[in-house]
Amino acid sequence: MFTKVLTDAQRFKLDQEPDHIFYQNPRFVQHLDDGFRARLTEFYREQIPSCATVLDLGSSWVSHLPDNVRYERVIGHGMNEAELTANPRLDSYFVQDFNRDPTLPLQEGFVDVCVVVAAWQYWTRPEEVAAEMLRVTRTNGTAIVAFSNRMFFAKAPQVWTDGDDREHLDYVGTVLQANGWGDVKVLAEETKTGGLMGLMGGKGEPFFAVTARKQI
Ligand SMILES: C[S@@+](CC[C@H](N)C(=O)[O-])C[C@H]1O[C@@H](n2cnc3c(N)ncnc32)[C@H](O)[C@@H]1O
Repeated sequence: MFTKVLTDAQRFKLDQEPDHIFYQNPRFVQHLDDGFRARLTEFYREQIPSCATVLDLGSSWVSHLPDNVRYERVIGHGMNEAELTANPRLDSYFVQDFNRDPTLPLQEGFVDVCVVVAAWQYWTRPEEVAAEMLRVTRTNGTAIVAFSNRMFFAKAPQVWTDGDDREHLDYVGTVLQANGWGDVKVLAEETKTGGLMGLMGGKGEPFFAVTARKQI
């Protein structure tokens, strides 16, 4: 059961090829700059207790979790097996195209915290994924959806390519709320770049996040 938010037109992507083709070769690159990544890791430190079972949806070879915190379990999901194999934080993983099949292969209430980084923007069936995230999260568990202001343009649906930062936050929050998540909050912050430029006030990529709680 899920609640539709998007129109068909908003799901349209310029690149209509199945996503597994785009992701068939691993990309061992950072998709977000050091300012964003530092803020995200700090945010995780504040928000995720070490006893948590964490589900990292749309993951790659990095999960951005603090190095010195050991979680109960970290389950990864992504589109490229070589990237997930190389991710040192994952205890297990699965590869799945949510635009084809948004059903999560996990039991109800198995997860404490579900995180999504720079990945929601590629989903054409976000309502179904949001409903599945809710199903696999325990009561009082949380979701953290983080992103910045860049994307693979041709791979993002129109709702993302046409929207600005504020609209992206509103859209993610609306889909989560419509699909049963409560206590939805949005965060928009500037970040500071690393090195000398950072000391001189240089900015990193902006940090945006939507958090939500499973209340029932
Ligand atoms: C820009 S990368 C971000 C990777 C990682 N979260 C990070 O922070 O570096 C986008 C990710 O979105 C996910 N993704 C893209 N298209 C997807 C699809 N159709 N179904 C499921 N996940 C998808 C993949 O895991 C891909 O690695």
